[in-house]
Amino acid sequence: MRAVDIIEKKRDGKQLTRDEIHFIIRGYTAGEIADYQVSALLMAIFLRGMTDAEAIALTEEMLYSGEVLDLSELGRLRVDKHSTGGVGDKTSLVIAPVVAAAGVPVPMISGRALAHSGGTLDKLDSIQGFRTNLSLAEFRATLARVGVALIGQTKEIAPADRKLYALRDVTATVPCRPLMAASIMSKKMAEGITGLVLDVKVGNGAFMKTEAEARQLAELMIQIARGLGKDCVALLTDMNQPLGRAVGNALEMIEAFDALRGQGPDDFITLCRELSAEMLVLGGAVATVDEGRARYDELIATGTALEKMREIITAQSGDPRVLDDYSLLPTARRERAVLARRSGTVQAIDTAAIGRASMLLGAGRLRLDSKIDLSVGLTISARIGDRVEESTPLAVMHFNDAVLVDEAAAVILQAYQIGAEATAPPVLIKEVLR
Ligand code: URA
Repeated sequence: MRAVDIIEKKRDGKQLTRDEIHFIIRGYTAGEIADYQVSALLMAIFLRGMTDAEAIALTEEMLYSGEVLDLSELGRLRVDKHSTGGVGDKTSLVIAPVVAAAGVPVPMISGRALAHSGGTLDKLDSIQGFRTNLSLAEFRATLARVGVALIGQTKEIAPADRKLYALRDVTATVPCRPLMAASIMSKKMAEGITGLVLDVKVGNGAFMKTEAEARQLAELMIQIARGLGKDCVALLTDMNQPLGRAVGNALEMIEAFDALRGQGPDDFITLCRELSAEMLVLGGAVATVDEGRARYDELIATGTALEKMREIITAQSGDPRVLDDYSLLPTARRERAVLARRSGTVQAIDTAAIGRASMLLGAGRLRLDSKIDLSVGLTISARIGDRVEESTPLAVMHFNDAVLVDEAAAVILQAYQIGAEATAPPVLIKEVLR
């Protein structure tokens, strides 16, 4: 077999066989097929697409490029949640302790910030000492002891995805349904879970811009999960504005800690509650989603979920005092509000632009090797449907370095569409696919 023939076949819109997909994934992971050939193939897939059978074969080849954990030793159903990526999406930081506090193990392998979207691992880095780079042995031990562990992708888990992902990021081939499904599911199916809740984001801050695209992605991921014998539920949720008010690593950590105390923006809390309720059902802790919601409320009201977070932080070498004293988190030295130029109602927010503004302040990576400033970011003051007056704040920038602040402010101003008509806030949960 030759890589060039496989590229040519896909370029011409033909279906690849499992053997051909195996040849590429094995060869690329082993360093025997060059980046430039795989780049060409990725672009051919981006333009020509893949059948579901090809996407399933791709996922399985990527999954078995590395270690597939067996956590049956825990003797219980094990669940995780995965979001396809958005702005201000910090639900994992609430959901993981809630679900674990209900006795359902959560083996969570998360990612870092990508393009304009944030990453759970970067947020956790804002807790002094917190280790997300546990070895697989430590991951297992923490899960057994605490019922939850929050780590990054290790070199053993889906190594093909690590290489492919980096390549996709620089070849404009990220927002592609079969490639996203294979990337996400190859990692998640390696985690040793029995059930998965997918939060498929849809809107101008998501990789999937329309509900139809998001639904197709969700359906494919569900099919992949079921094919591998896992339970899977997908929620299509809104990403036409940032989730909650905080965008940026330490700022989002504070919003998550507040949510564990039952405080904070409604949309963020609602989504945490719905995703947790679905996970509790898949984990066998409750029989219905309604019971799951009630369990969520109880774990928050009694402080049990907050205490689980304390346990997680301690178990992963972080400073648990941060839960009670937010000044222990990195804090930006300066703040500046971005003021509305006219009165009216917020009609729309370019959410990816808000993510980019936060990146300009230093909260995300402009390059693969950029260092993130964990303290910086935005507090969103005005959301879709809100009435604003001229010179009232749309958002507050938290920053240290003034270099790109004017540019960030201009991006934020441009991102807000303000008009005379009354506008309803977007529906948060658009669909649940079971
Ligand atoms: N998250 C992933 O892990 N992979 C993708 O392709 C997109 C989002």
